[in-house]
Amino acid sequence: MADTERPRHVFMPEDSLEEWILQESERAEIYLLRNVSPPDALPGAILASPSRSNPDYYYHWVRDAGIVIKAILQLYRLAREPEARRRYFDRMMEFVDFSWHIQRTAVQAGIGLGEPKFFVDGMPYMDPWGRPQDDGPAIRAIELTHWAFLLLDEGRRELVQERLYDARLPTGSVIKADLEYTAHRWRATCYDLWEEVLGHHFFTRLLQRKALIEGAALATRLGDDEAARFYVDQSRHLDGELRRHWEPERQYLVSVRDQETDPPRSGLDSSVILATLGGYSIHDHELYGEDLYPVEHEQVLATAVAQKRTFQSLYPINDPSRRIAGIAIGRYPEDRYDGYRTDSIGNPWPGITIGFAMYHYKLAMQYRRSTRIALTPTSLPFFQALPVEDVRFDPGEELLAGDPRFDRTVDALRREGDAFLERARYHMNPDGSMSEQMNRFTGFQQGAAHLSMNYAAFLLATEMRRHLLLFS
Ligand code: NOJ
Ligand code: NOJ
Repeated sequence: MADTERPRHVFMPEDSLEEWILQESERAEIYLLRNVSPPDALPGAILASPSRSNPDYYYHWVRDAGIVIKAILQLYRLAREPEARRRYFDRMMEFVDFSWHIQRTAVQAGIGLGEPKFFVDGMPYMDPWGRPQDDGPAIRAIELTHWAFLLLDEGRRELVQERLYDARLPTGSVIKADLEYTAHRWRATCYDLWEEVLGHHFFTRLLQRKALIEGAALATRLGDDEAARFYVDQSRHLDGELRRHWEPERQYLVSVRDQETDPPRSGLDSSVILATLGGYSIHDHELYGEDLYPVEHEQVLATAVAQKRTFQSLYPINDPSRRIAGIAIGRYPEDRYDGYRTDSIGNPWPGITIGFAMYHYKLAMQYRRSTRIALTPTSLPFFQALPVEDVRFDPGEELLAGDPRFDRTVDALRREGDAFLERARYHMNPDGSMSEQMNRFTGFQQGAAHLSMNYAAFLLATEMRRHLLLFS
């Protein structure tokens, strides 16, 4: 059948990756937007998933919503039609107002800004739960800070000062509320992004650091200099805290320190890699301060390869005898949550697998930009595991742009990213939808259907890929 005759919605397994990405992008956007401001919710509420039972994910989770809003901000940036721009603009501003509203309801209920989930009418979920979760306010601050910068560049300073950042104390604005909370709270332990462990988390702290640094840049731009200095000072303390996560004997960054809940974790956890993608979009890259753990940091590279190996051997669907591209990645090896119950056995997750695709694209992009790849004893295993033939990697060496080995390595990173994307594609439902997990034995989707974060991850990762190809 010729391409033009083919109904757009039919998944053809033989389609090229490029064709499939175009098709899946359309579907991901539709599925994503269905979960944003649904009819029975306050405008601005974002469902983690439309699933109302087994499991009940019919809530606005602050972290999930922050990742979704990052994707909507990207859609706004890419939109050319005035109609589409207006639609995304409205979604963004609804989210701003809803966020301010739930900050207030959480404070009034006496639980504060670390409250992880809300009913879609804006009331906090008050039953027992792993709280607080301090990554939420940090992620929200990062994305709304990017939104504020964009609006400032469009000349809408008044709107920003009225609805996003007001430079007052006590503040009447959403970003400053999150920054004040983060600047005063980072020392305390909290629950992790998986909502299970109380401690100090690499994921949470790297995002808190980023929120404070970027928030300080916004404060400065809006004349709130004293606050800017305070936010930067607090962020500096986090540098030393974050460096404590490296374990030389294990050669990876552990996800948690000072754990206060049982059972103890190995600390090998995909959230460390996801953290290095956090907040950073292609567009803001040049704008803000220095990154403590950029994707090409030798310890991040070592952590990435340790995780690839671990999940590769953990899940039967990753067995090389099955000859499926890429590696399906899960949360952490000891995971027992199967999407319905927590006394079961964990699985790989589509959104995390797509996150690993993005990690490799971003890495390739960074190397193209910096025109050099540094090989160290710590990062060597990462490069040795890449699908690149006829290249010998020696520790202490630097590959520079112009050297054919440089190009082959960057190309291998792109192919490695594509393999993760192909893996997510392989297990997707025929209509391009994704649930929270993929069964570790069969690969079938399970757990919360139409998990919003999956579609956001897909849109963000493929946009990163598009940029990489433009850059090459
Ligand atoms: C238990 C899981 O382990 C946790 O990560 C999840 O957030 C909750 N259930 C919500 O369903
Ligand atoms: C479980 C995940 O572990 C957590 O990160 C997420 O926020 C919730 N599900 C809702 O999607």
